[in-house]
Amino acid sequence: MSDAVSIIAAKRDGHILTKRQIDWVIDGFTRGTVADEQMSALAMAIVWRGLDRRELSDWTAAMIDSGSRMDFSDIARPTVDKHSTGGVGDKITLPLAPLVAACGAAVPQLSGRGLGHTGGTLDKLESIAGWRADLSAEEIHSILADSAVGAVVCAAGADLAPADKRLYALRDVTGTVESIPLIASSIMSKKIAEGTSGLVLDVKVGAGAFMKNIDDARELATAMVALGSDAGVRTVALLTAMDAPLGMTAGNALEVEESLEVLSGGGHADIVELTITLARTMLTVAGIEGIDPADKLADGSAMDRWRAMVAAQGGDPDAPLPVAKESRTVTAEQDGFITELDAMAVGVAAWRLGAGRERQGEPVQAGAGVRLHAKPGDRVVAGQQLATLYTDTPEKFDYATEAIDAAWGISDSAPVRSPIVLDRVGR
Ligand code: URA
Repeated sequence: MSDAVSIIAAKRDGHILTKRQIDWVIDGFTRGTVADEQMSALAMAIVWRGLDRRELSDWTAAMIDSGSRMDFSDIARPTVDKHSTGGVGDKITLPLAPLVAACGAAVPQLSGRGLGHTGGTLDKLESIAGWRADLSAEEIHSILADSAVGAVVCAAGADLAPADKRLYALRDVTGTVESIPLIASSIMSKKIAEGTSGLVLDVKVGAGAFMKNIDDARELATAMVALGSDAGVRTVALLTAMDAPLGMTAGNALEVEESLEVLSGGGHADIVELTITLARTMLTVAGIEGIDPADKLADGSAMDRWRAMVAAQGGDPDAPLPVAKESRTVTAEQDGFITELDAMAVGVAAWRLGAGRERQGEPVQAGAGVRLHAKPGDRVVAGQQLATLYTDTPEKFDYATEAIDAAWGISDSAPVRSPIVLDRVGR
């Protein structure tokens, strides 16, 4: 017999929980017999006390067992997915999924919606007319099995790790998101239940990420790679920089437009580099050799896959993307080199403009967001445009401008350029 109060007290006092206690509490939480306030208290105890490797593995297994697993083992091509821990302007899934499918893998990419300052892949794709995020398990399977498509980006069904859905919503409102074991088990329970055979994790590090320093990011990556490998999912993690936003846009339709530039062979160097590096890593994990993703971007086959992928989910790849009704520009106050561009501040500005939501379920504005005209390393003169803000609700401009005005550092000397990929965990 277990009870919630003694499990909370045990973790509060720094004890190791047994598998029985973990199974009991996650099962009770999923069924509603462990109350939200009890689970919140336990989550806070875990934030402070952590979970050891065995507890983490049992916690993750219990979250997986709270729902059903998907099975793609009958698909002829190897399955491989990518998961990012979340950042500002991180639209990489959009060009990456069709690119890796064009190289011969099947890409099941179950994604989420944005909350707070980080955008959600599904919100971005929903700015395409007709595109549907909610697919049945049969639809997901048949799109993946179709060798002319082979990539699907959609919402996780209600039965995929339901304990995580409930727990994530609680953590979001109780200050318990920032915990390495809770983040690792949350991400990996969904990825293992999803049934992919290979996984590449993009663990973001820096001002715009959950992990602000490389040591924490490495610890999170190591925990997730171990969970994946223990569950038979070949898992590699790249640690990548998230000090400045990725690319030149943050916002839903704006990020789709920028992804189309990458698929057309253009795009800002940082997103192109990260897309190609992640694609190469995914192919290695999937055991596909002799194909360079850079060639598939250049010869248009990744763009063909994108069109097939959008159409397979009801979207019209030729429909014009929504544009916000109003815009306002932000200009440089002095001459010099941009030394800093705070990703968090840009994410907050985009969110305040209407690109993100404050509460689960709220609608987002497709056209709202920020288009950058300059990034760290660029030289600017006073009065030059640094960014354009977009929204349908112009009363939001002042609040968003407050955030973005504070984002820039400008100085007389050029900053040292730092690499995008900082480290790798797993082989
Ligand atoms: N993404 C998740 O799915 N879970 C977390 O806990 C953090 C980021």
